[in-house]
Amino acid sequence: MYVCLCNGYRDSELRELARRGFSDAEDAFLALGDGPCCGGCLDFAQTIMDTERAQPGCPDAGEGVEDIEDKAA
Ligand code: FES
Repeated sequence: MYVCLCNGYRDSELRELARRGFSDAEDAFLALGDGPCCGGCLDFAQTIMDTERAQPGCPDAGEGVEDIEDKAA
């Protein structure tokens, strides 16, 4: 489902980034291409990411933001 209508980001994309070590919705948005626009979705996006990170088996110290940004450079 779409979470961010401004950017067209889906919950599946946010969950994937949460499993890869992202904890902040705004950082996840930037990794997907663009930061928040209106910001109306951020609380919901953060809840989705927090919920995913609380799932059993989700690594607390997996690949972090810096690692992913390094690969993108
Ligand atoms: S709906 Fe996500 S920034 Fe506007």
